Amino acid sequence: MTKKLKFQAPTGMHDILPEEQRYFQKIYSVVEDIAKFYGFEKIDTPILEDAELFSKGVGMSTDIVGKEMFSLRTKGGDYLALRPEGTAPTVRAFIENGMINLPQPVKLWYFGPFFRYEHPQAGRFREFWQFGFENFGEQNAVIDAQTIQIFYNILQELKLKNLVIEINCIGDSQCRPYYKKLLTSYFRSRESALCPDCRRRLRENPLRILDCKEEKCQPVKSQAPQIIDHLCEICHKHFKDVLEFLDGIELPYRLNPYLVRGLDYYTKTVFEIFTETNEEIQKQSALAGGGRYDTLVKLLGGRDTPACGAAAGVNRIVELMRERSQKQPKEFEAEVFLAQLGNLAKKKSLKLIEEFRKEKITIGESLGRDSLKAQLVKANKMGVKYTLILGQQEALDDKIIIRDMKIGKQETVKLDKVVREISKKIKK
Ligand code: HAM
Repeated sequence: MTKKLKFQAPTGMHDILPEEQRYFQKIYSVVEDIAKFYGFEKIDTPILEDAELFSKGVGMSTDIVGKEMFSLRTKGGDYLALRPEGTAPTVRAFIENGMINLPQPVKLWYFGPFFRYEHPQAGRFREFWQFGFENFGEQNAVIDAQTIQIFYNILQELKLKNLVIEINCIGDSQCRPYYKKLLTSYFRSRESALCPDCRRRLRENPLRILDCKEEKCQPVKSQAPQIIDHLCEICHKHFKDVLEFLDGIELPYRLNPYLVRGLDYYTKTVFEIFTETNEEIQKQSALAGGGRYDTLVKLLGGRDTPACGAAAGVNRIVELMRERSQKQPKEFEAEVFLAQLGNLAKKKSLKLIEEFRKEKITIGESLGRDSLKAQLVKANKMGVKYTLILGQQEALDDKIIIRDMKIGKQETVKLDKVVREISKKIKK
């Protein structure tokens, strides 16, 4: 006996069904509008990249690369990875396509799936969607503030409430090495009070200890030296400027000295945006995160180019939109409905629908059905103003009935005149 196969989507990955697609489309259209407004151009990069792009760009010691990367060896022997994030690929494309020779800044945005081998839980998936904005060639702090403003605007436009921005400055190659040393010696003297993960971090990247959510590490963390007290003059001024710009546009931010982010490429400003509802969940699930990464282009083989950007998690935004029981973005909205009966009417309907499409008039139908009653019920549900009825007799006579759904009045017109008639009525 053969066993019946039961396939399921891979763990942590899921189908985006039509109901969810509507949220995705809503988000996409808000992001696209805002991108256009701020002068960002769209880029798509491959889903697979050379794995080394991420180990070098994002950092070998980060969880994203060290623990969570889906990688594979191709038949040709290349070592590739499913992209876990979008910044390193965008930088690779910027360098590879000589975008440094374009007038700067180069502003790019993307929207697509990303992959991390994480423990699936609420708001955390192995395949998830992000949209991101990356700005190359500008080092002024105003860009950091504008990046935050863009993400805040998008989330607001999507009607998400209680948004909180957390921000920090993690220094640069001038001041961070010294701070790291300070931090290492502080944590080393308290190593036994740290969780096993943080003991590992102490050797690999002590900054990440600041980000630890383990109860055990909190008391040690809270006494740790803060980078803000050890910034060099340039970073200090940059941070002060960013905060002043944010004050100027009245964005409500909170300083978080423990915010270090889970990717190694950041310099100076880092930020995340949450919604403030439940502290626990909130900490798990930033809606967006980003910052400045002034050394990444050079690190990946390009010319020294300052850059700043961020990305947001689409799935998390959809979850919130659903939770807040935001009215589901409307399904297909039709202006008229075409009800038909019999094979000849179906044949003529196929042609008629095309004529409406060319006129850009949206038309609902239920071509597979024959029951007029069921079709009228559907027309009612769709809330159309007019229903066209093409019965067997009308089809023979090349005529069609127009029914005004509001007042119930009906009139019969010639089939070849109906598109014009409806067009007149709609545009009235
Ligand atoms: P990230 O903080 O790793 O940053 O991801 C950005 C957003 O993607 C998060 O705030 C979250 O909403 C969403 N996200 C991340 N992992 C998952 C997951 N496993 N499941 C669901 N959603 C997730 C970056 O990826 C940087 N490349 C952002 C950036 C762009 N920095 C500069 N430019």
